[in-house]
Amino acid sequence: MTLRAGEWIVVAGALLIGAFAALVGTLIYLKPPPVMYGYAESAAANHGETIYKKENCRDCHQVFGNGSTSGPRLDGIGALRSVSWFKAYLIDPRPGVGEKTYRVTMPSYARLNEEDRDALVAYLLALKPLGAQDSAIP
Ligand code: HEC
Repeated sequence: MTLRAGEWIVVAGALLIGAFAALVGTLIYLKPPPVMYGYAESAAANHGETIYKKENCRDCHQVFGNGSTSGPRLDGIGALRSVSWFKAYLIDPRPGVGEKTYRVTMPSYARLNEEDRDALVAYLLALKPLGAQDSAIP
């Protein structure tokens, strides 16, 4: 069967569209959409955010793209840890909890009063993946 010029264009166009669809499909398959992170806002969490800023946690941590990445990103951290874990960690942090090893060291915040530490914990807990806002770990 021989094709005329016009028919070749249609065939080539169809092949191009098919190849493009396959490419897009492969890319979607290989790279799932990024997890979106949210902030379960509350008065306690907002108060914690002011302490977070005052204590310059963002010198080492990043939340919603703000801050340094010399320490681990804290987006979504509220879904990974518990209140008691955060409380203990702020007093007695230890290496080896982040995604990798870091050149900076997480300082102890034992010098803060308990109220400020609790506020920080409320803030950290509010950093949840979207859709997980209500699944607080006791
Ligand atoms: C000098 C840098 C630095 C500062 C300032 C700092 N951190 Fe960290 N933080 C780190 C590093 C590094 C780690 C990871 C420790 C490790 O696993 O090696 C960490 C870990 C953490 C973790 C645990 C993360 C996880 O994956 O479980 C939390 C929560 C945290 N920091 C909160 C804070 C808060 C809140 C402040 C401010 C009050 C703060 N950090 C200030 C460096 C810092």
